[in-house]
Amino acid sequence: MIVTIDGPAGAGKSSIARDAAERLGFEFLDTGALYRAMTLAAIRAQVDFQNDTEIIDFSESVQIQWDGDRVLLGGEDVSEQIRTPPVTDAIRFLADLPQIRERLSQIQREIAVGRDMVTEGRDQGTEVFTDAQCKIFLTASPEERAKRRHQQLSAMGRPLPLEEILKAQNQRDEEDRIRPMGALRPAEDATVIDSDGMTSEEVLEQVLRTVREIQKGDPTH
Ligand code: DC
Repeated sequence: MIVTIDGPAGAGKSSIARDAAERLGFEFLDTGALYRAMTLAAIRAQVDFQNDTEIIDFSESVQIQWDGDRVLLGGEDVSEQIRTPPVTDAIRFLADLPQIRERLSQIQREIAVGRDMVTEGRDQGTEVFTDAQCKIFLTASPEERAKRRHQQLSAMGRPLPLEEILKAQNQRDEEDRIRPMGALRPAEDATVIDSDGMTSEEVLEQVLRTVREIQKGDPTH
């Protein structure tokens, strides 16, 4: 069974998807990590981000693997290096290209073959796993998402002004929304969960309830 969780940056998708996978006894796939790994590879190779053909040609030689919850680039574990600001800032140059999205979507489908998985991203229910039995769109207001990120960074000893976080987040929301392919939107058959005012435990319970309802209605699961 495939459970997709899509939604904007900062909606808490990653931790909810990881926790939901654990509680369901499923595996977890963070598709943003694959976009990040491809971007890191391009940065390391000093690919010209203004040159789409160069990006596409380069991407064909990149070997990305997903190992439980680590991402490997040509066998090297890059799970930490992909979380740095230069990678985050450059992702759009790749994520906007349909050829790159197709390649990464193909990798995602191959990873999921024959598995019970919770996959998390922007386009999982709308493009990559259109036949998924359970689709969830997890969202929250921009202010709430920025506030949570602010608290998270402060707890990590890296406080940033709330306005700065909100500004960067608004820019990423816009990039995700207007992307020609793989734009962020709920699938028609997705269950939308707006997590404003909810604790992460409450969100997790709602996600699990949604999955179990579908499992109950489908005797093959
Ligand atoms: O979820 P994340 O912040 O790690 O994702 C990083 C970027 O990758 C995000 O800004 C948009 C892109 N992305 C995408 O276009 N499609 C996905 N399925 C996952 C991520």
